[in-house]
Amino acid sequence: MSTAALTQALVRRFGDAEALGGVDLEVAEGSVVGLLGPNGAGKTTLVRVLATLLRPDEGRAEVFGRDVVTQASAVRELIGLTGQFAAVDELLSGRENLRMFGRLFRLSRRQSARRASELLERFGLADAGDRQVKTYSGGMRRRLDLASSLITRPRVLFLDEPTTGLDPRSRNEIWSIARELVGEGMTLLLTTQYLEEADQLADRIAVIDHGRVIAEGTGDELKDNVGGSMVEIRLEQPAERERAREVLLTLGCGEPKTADRPDELTLAAARDGVGMVAAAARALEEADLSVRDLSLRRPTLDDVFLELTGTTRGVDGEYSSEPEAPAEAPAEARR
Ligand SMILES: Nc1ncnc2c1ncn2[C@@H]1O[C@H](COP(=O)(O)OP(=O)(O)OP(=O)(O)O)[C@@H](O)[C@H]1O
Ligand SMILES: [Mg+2]
Repeated sequence: MSTAALTQALVRRFGDAEALGGVDLEVAEGSVVGLLGPNGAGKTTLVRVLATLLRPDEGRAEVFGRDVVTQASAVRELIGLTGQFAAVDELLSGRENLRMFGRLFRLSRRQSARRASELLERFGLADAGDRQVKTYSGGMRRRLDLASSLITRPRVLFLDEPTTGLDPRSRNEIWSIARELVGEGMTLLLTTQYLEEADQLADRIAVIDHGRVIAEGTGDELKDNVGGSMVEIRLEQPAERERAREVLLTLGCGEPKTADRPDELTLAAARDGVGMVAAAARALEEADLSVRDLSLRRPTLDDVFLELTGTTRGVDGEYSSEPEAPAEAPAEARR
């Protein structure tokens, strides 16, 4: 298998600000790599460098062995890019948009028309194809955007936050399209702020924060990094949480973490998760603390992100930095 996309010690600055601070990333042909990070992490910058839209300041980036600076036009023939913000023309119809992209990429009139019809059909837009894009829903726009990046039959597709702002149904549609493309041999580099999305689609995940890859691995490897399983405890009385925390501390399993919910506590159970559930239940019962719910779960990538960066997930599903959290040395989950 060859390497579809590669960056080595890639640095990109905007003025004094370093958007990418030395990124090494490798995307094997036929694989899906998820680039996971919060707002401002550098995801779009990295994708734009690989797509030849931004020049690197230091380091190198290549696509199928072609350098993005010295062989930019060769790179452009191999890639498709679905940007974070829609690149389609609102006043044109879906079909007109696709034909226009076809012409831009130097397909003939007939080829462009044929390709537009194929793609409209494939992306469930055949009926809406002749309507102005401004009448499309968010999900339809994303599908059209994705379709337009496939006009040239790229070998590697960069998807920059393909489902941000979409409802679960539209998100699922994009996911199944992505899986279909991968099934046909397409290589994907996907950026996302949704841990679940990376976990669902990607073979490997690189966690990026402040322009640096701070962890890399499969979803499972990243989860293992947090350690075994998580015991989640929900109390009848939120007021008893502090006392419950003290009781749980005596189990010797490390500091119980308090969650956003006032009645909830989470314990990392390094090895024996089931034993830990039993011990926690017993200890809480002996201390006369009523428990509403006690469960054992695998760590989510949210736990991983919290562990790595000390940032938490906001209500809108995005991540917000907590400035007071100390910047600890990141635990690496490299190959
Ligand atoms: N054209 C630009 N001029 C100045 N600063 C920029 C520019 N583009 C990006 N930056 C800065 O570089 C950093 C990385 O931005 P980037 O857009 O790559 O982040 P991102 O991970 O894509 O974030 P988001 O999830 O919000 O899309 C940010 O601090 C951003 O403000
Ligand atoms: Mg972005």
